[in-house]
Amino acid sequence: MDEIKITEMKNEKEIDFLRNKKSFNYTYDKATIDSLKKHFQLKDSLYLIAKKGAEFVAFCSIDRGWWEDNFFFIREILVDPYFQKLGIGKKLMGRCIEHAKNKKATGVVTETAFKNSPMRNLCENFDFKEWENPQWKEGVTYKLLF
Ligand SMILES: CC(C)(COP(=O)(O)OP(=O)(O)OC[C@H]1O[C@@H](n2cnc3c(N)ncnc32)[C@H](O)[C@@H]1OP(=O)(O)O)[C@@H](O)C(=O)NCCC(=O)NCCS
Repeated sequence: MDEIKITEMKNEKEIDFLRNKKSFNYTYDKATIDSLKKHFQLKDSLYLIAKKGAEFVAFCSIDRGWWEDNFFFIREILVDPYFQKLGIGKKLMGRCIEHAKNKKATGVVTETAFKNSPMRNLCENFDFKEWENPQWKEGVTYKLLF
């Protein structure tokens, strides 16, 4: 039996593996892959992938592509439906937050749809607080200050 292993992506080409991976009604389409490739280039980006053997389990990324100084942004988190509710999302998000802390960030931001209760619960578990985002009103922006 293969175990679930979490590794850091070291090469932009590895991002292609995520194409068309999906969960609920969310799919990693071309626009998402392109955005991930662009933000991978930023200093201090961390892209974590979880696999069981060759099988996709989950992905989470954090980068400095946020407009407020010294904040990190959790750009993507997705756990394959078969592996959900096993603590994998929590583990990946925890590692991304730790990474930002180690880089002496002011805090971490992420955004999600109003109705995305799994993601909202996950954020609130990490003590993210809802933040009034002047640039985005179509969902919830969460902020975690260190
Ligand atoms: C959000 C997501 C990443 C959570 O991943 P996961 O591995 O299933 O989550 P975990 O097992 O680590 O659970 C951590 C916490 O998330 C919350 N949570 C997870 N699944 C949930 C669900 N179906 N309903 C409500 N809360 C849920 C709970 O608070 C849970 O903590 P608890 O078990 O102590 O109650 C996953 O549901 C997912 O991939 N969703 C689709 C993609 C997505 O919406 N990404 C975010 C885009 S902004």
